[in-house]
Amino acid sequence: MKFHHALLFLHLAGVILWVGGMAFAHFCLRPAALELPPAQRLTLWCGVLGRFFRVVWLAIGLIVGSGFAMLGATGFAQAPVAWHAMAGIGLVMVAVFASIWFGPWQALQQAVAAESWAQGASALNRIRQRVGINLLLGTFTVAVATLGLAV
Ligand code: HEM
Repeated sequence: MKFHHALLFLHLAGVILWVGGMAFAHFCLRPAALELPPAQRLTLWCGVLGRFFRVVWLAIGLIVGSGFAMLGATGFAQAPVAWHAMAGIGLVMVAVFASIWFGPWQALQQAVAAESWAQGASALNRIRQRVGINLLLGTFTVAVATLGLAV
């Protein structure tokens, strides 16, 4: 096993945690949670997202750290276009996640603590939209990385 393989393993572990977690939240948890009354639904999401978002910070560390280590070892000038595209979209995904963390995620926690369910629902909706953007970007990035669309 080469060092590159270990980095690729850490990279993909991060991608699986982040993109897989978003897919689970969007396609499985959300439809089930919609059947709950607002107080229970928003309290549940607060508990779920608090845990998931800490996992996402770990995943970001793994993906960005290993990604740039692999890119740097090959050389930025020699790296295929697909790797540059992946790095660019990956950094946009990190920016979108940071905008969730510092924006609607803080608002959701405050709304749940104050039992302001209307504000909480609005904050959760903004989180849902941005997670949806990152789910699309993440899926597209995996396609760029694997399908040979750019060399
Ligand atoms: C943030 C900056 C990122 C950098 C600098 C980066 C860089 C890299 C590099 C250099 C490789 C090695 C490719 C190879 O050995 O063939 C790689 C593989 C891969 N990356 Fe990224 N990446 C980043 C983000 C992402 C993101 C956000 C995703 C998906 C959501 C992703 C998905 C993948 C996949 C699926 C592979 C495996 C491709 C293969 O080996 O065929 N990467 N990445």
